[in-house]
Amino acid sequence: MPHAFQQCIDPSCAATFDVHEAHVSCPTCVVAGRQSLLDICYDWDRIEPPKSFSFFENRWMTKGEQGEGALDFSGVWRFRELLPFYSTEADIVTIGEGRTNLQVAQLLAREVGLRSGTLLLQYEGLNPSGSFKDNGMTAAFTHARMVGAQRVACASTGNTSASLAMFASLSGVAGIVFIGTGKIAFGKLSQALDYGARTLQIQGDFDACLRRIRQIVATGPDLGIYLMNSVNPFRLEGQKAIMYRVLEAMNWQIPDWIVVPGGNLGNCSAFAKAFAELQAIGLVDRIPRLAVIQATGANPLYALHTEQHIRWNGGRYDREAIDRFYEQRGAASFKATTIASAIEIGHPVNLPKALRALDIMNGVVRQVDDETIMEHKALVGRYGFGCEPASAASVAGAHLLVEEGVIDRDARVVCILTGHELKDPDATVKYHTGVDMKAVQDNAPRSTPTGRLANRPIPVLDDLKAIIEAIGVTADAIPRSAVDPDPLNRLPVSEY
Ligand code: F0G
Repeated sequence: MPHAFQQCIDPSCAATFDVHEAHVSCPTCVVAGRQSLLDICYDWDRIEPPKSFSFFENRWMTKGEQGEGALDFSGVWRFRELLPFYSTEADIVTIGEGRTNLQVAQLLAREVGLRSGTLLLQYEGLNPSGSFKDNGMTAAFTHARMVGAQRVACASTGNTSASLAMFASLSGVAGIVFIGTGKIAFGKLSQALDYGARTLQIQGDFDACLRRIRQIVATGPDLGIYLMNSVNPFRLEGQKAIMYRVLEAMNWQIPDWIVVPGGNLGNCSAFAKAFAELQAIGLVDRIPRLAVIQATGANPLYALHTEQHIRWNGGRYDREAIDRFYEQRGAASFKATTIASAIEIGHPVNLPKALRALDIMNGVVRQVDDETIMEHKALVGRYGFGCEPASAASVAGAHLLVEEGVIDRDARVVCILTGHELKDPDATVKYHTGVDMKAVQDNAPRSTPTGRLANRPIPVLDDLKAIIEAIGVTADAIPRSAVDPDPLNRLPVSEY
C-alpha cells in the first residue's frame, strides 16, 4: 500500500485508488449504480509526521522564490507534511496562497454578545484571488500536474472560477469556467475574464452548471478535462490548511468553535478532516465544535440536519430521506435564492462529508436570512477589513448561537471570513445607498469590446451538446455516453 491513496468514504465500499488517478466520485460505486465521494488518506505510520507544531514554526525563517523557500512562503505548503499526497516537491503548484490573518475582533465581539477578546476572524479574503478557494486550488493544481492535465474546469458561484482562472493562467493550462447567468458577483466575473479563462455563461444556476460539468467530466478521458470543484478530494486537502493557520495564529491553542458559511460544503468537510487527522497523529488532544451557517434561501444542510435530524451514522445516513427531500423540493420547483450569491446552492455535492464533519466536530447547523447577513456584513466592515455577504453569514450565525445559548459568551469563537469585501461591491453599495447596481448594469449601454485581450463570456443554453461545443471540442469528439444515455441522469437527484 502506498503512503497516500484515495478511498471511498462509504464504509460499506471503502475501495481504494492510486493518487495518480483522477476521479470525481468512487468508480466502484458508480458501477454499482451509486455515487460516493472520495477522501485522500495517508498511512501515517509510514510517513512519520512531525511530533510537534514547532516544526512548522521554524519555516517562518525560510524565504525564496523557488524550491523550499516558495513552499515555506505558502500558508498551505508550509504544512506539507500534513497533506503529503504529492510524489515530489517539484509537483507542487504554488502562488503564495494562504498568507492570511486571524484578527481579534473586540468591538464586533460585543455586538454579537461575546465577551471582549473571544471573537476571532480568519480573513481568507486576503488570499491572492481574494477568497479561501486558493487554499484548495493549490492542492488540486498540484494533483492536476501529477496526472498531466492540460485542461481544467469548474462550475462556480464566482470564487472558484476566479481562483481556477488565476492558477490556470499562472501554471499554463487551459481554464474553463461555468457560471450561471446573472448569478455571479461582478468582481468575481471580472477576475475570470481578466485571467483569461474560457467563461461559459450557462442559462441556469450553479446547480445546473455543476451537474453539466460533472456529466462532461464523467464522459471519460476523451475530452481531457480535469474537474476543479470540491468533489475533487485534493481541493479539500489544501483547505485543511485554513485550520492549521488558525491554530498557528492562536499559538497552537484550540478554539471552542469554528463557524463557517456552508454552500457546497467543502470547507466544513475539510476542517473536520484536518482535526480528525491532527488528533489521530497526536498533535491535538481536543477538537473544536463546528457551526455551519447557511442562508435561509439556500439551506439544504439546515433542513436535513437540524430539521430532519439526518445524521452521518457511521456512513449509513438515511439516503432515502435525502432523496425524498430533494424530490419534494424539485416538485415544488424550489430554486436556491440568496443575496449571498457565493452560497446560493440547492444541491451541495459534499453533503455526506458535511454530515461526517458535523459528527466529528459535534457540530450544529443554522440558517440566517438575507437581511441578517447584510447587517452582519456591515458590522464586519465597520469594525474590520470587511468581507463579502456569504462570509458574513458566519458572524450572523455566531450571533444567533450566542443568543440561543449554544455558544457560551466566554467561548473562543473563530468565524471564517471566506471572501474579500471587494468581490461583491454591488451588495455593499445597495445596502448603504439603496442603488441597485445590478439593475443598472442590466440596462447599461453595451458596445463591442475592442481591447486586444478582451475575453467575453460565452452565453450557452443549459444543453450538454451546446456546452461541449462551446468548450471548443468538435462534435465528433463527443463520446456517445455524453449524449445518450446520460449516466448521471439515472442517478437519484441528491447524488449529482
Ligand atoms: N463563502 C464564499 C465566499 C464562497 O465563495 C463559498 C463557495 C462559500 C463560502 C461556501 O463554501 O462551498 O465550501 O461550503 N463558493 C463556491 C464557488 C461554491 O463556486 O465559488 P463551501
